[in-house]
Amino acid sequence: MCLILFMFVACILLYEHQYLAQVSAPEVLFPRHLAQEGMFTINSRGRLGNQMGQYATLYALAKMNGRPAFILPQTHDFLAPLFRISLPVLHNTTINQIPWNNYKLNDWMEEQYRHIPGQYVRLTDSPGSWTFYHHLRQEILREFTLHDHLREEAQRLLRGLMVNGSQPSTFVGVHVRRGDYVYLMPKVWKGVVADRGYLQQALAWFRTHHSSPLFVVTSNDMAWCRDNIDASRGDVVFAGNGLEGSPGRDFALLMQCNHTIMTIGTFGFWAGYLTGGQTIYLANYTLPKSALRKFFKPKAAFLPEWIGIPADLSPLFKH
Ligand SMILES: *[C@@H]1O[C@H](CO)[C@@H](O)[C@H](O)[C@H]1NC(C)=O
Ligand SMILES: *[C@@H]1O[C@H](CO)[C@@H](O)[C@H](O)[C@H]1NC(C)=O
Ligand SMILES: *[C@@H]1O[C@H](CO)[C@@H](O)[C@H](O)[C@H]1NC(C)=O
Ligand SMILES: *[C@@H]1O[C@H](CO)[C@@H](O)[C@H](O)[C@H]1NC(C)=O
Repeated sequence: MCLILFMFVACILLYEHQYLAQVSAPEVLFPRHLAQEGMFTINSRGRLGNQMGQYATLYALAKMNGRPAFILPQTHDFLAPLFRISLPVLHNTTINQIPWNNYKLNDWMEEQYRHIPGQYVRLTDSPGSWTFYHHLRQEILREFTLHDHLREEAQRLLRGLMVNGSQPSTFVGVHVRRGDYVYLMPKVWKGVVADRGYLQQALAWFRTHHSSPLFVVTSNDMAWCRDNIDASRGDVVFAGNGLEGSPGRDFALLMQCNHTIMTIGTFGFWAGYLTGGQTIYLANYTLPKSALRKFFKPKAAFLPEWIGIPADLSPLFKH
């Protein structure tokens, strides 16, 4: 009986599959109006923070050029589990049918990007600078609205935290980016990552400017944070789970805080940008001769009102 039922269902599914493939596939995969309008997309590189930067850049540049924007399935897979993003997704089959014109971007806005030539444009590289999309800030914030379950889970966690027995009114999200950068910064980029001294200064700034703030620490190296951030006043909580493969929970926590301390990297940038309070960042963390300086412009990376604390570069001179 079961077998017969199974075969019956299988036949229907097979029939439907063929029917759909014959009848509706060409139209679904390549809508005719797009042949006239053209379209913009962007490559999908890196992890969450980079993907967000690419998405926001595509959103803004497509709008500036009066073209519809579509994202790749890989971009969707990164962002859709966290955010209520609205850009439509290209089908893999469509992607391969389109004669894309690749267009490489620097990581800052340039006048020529208002008139990008070509009908089917694939933006490339990993742009994320606010200079592309800050004039659309409200729309970008709407695109990166958290799903309710993530926001509520983060809110529950924050509501359960105390400073000396009372609920804090100010939460400062702290993101400490380490991982591969601990090696890459000195070896490849002639720079440093945030150290204990930077975090001390950043926390001190908030303790001076706010009454009893609570620091909510997330990192891809929580063990280092526990060893290097002084929690003896009872106003530091090591809340991150540091899972690089599923960064949604940590990101949601940072977003629900009121202010941000970031170190380096695009994950921290986006936490600061979306949280929208005061943001402290690590400034001037490479030597002038670093190759990073060729494609990284601090002025295009950090909002002018953010507060930079210069890095201690002295470890680079020791052997
Ligand atoms: C689409 O193509 C990408 C890159 O070639 C691949 O990684 C991905 O698995 C494909 N997705 C589907 C649903 O076939
Ligand atoms: C918490 O209370 C202790 C003891 O009174 C005090 O030393 C500490 O500074 C307080 N911490 C904060 C963040 O107010
Ligand atoms: C600070 O963040 C908390 C937790 O998200 C929120 O309840 C509170 O309203 C925020 N405070 C301000 C002034 O925005
Ligand atoms: C970084 O270095 C530049 C150039 O030396 C300087 O103008 C700027 O003030 C420094 N930024 C910070 C936050 O110290």
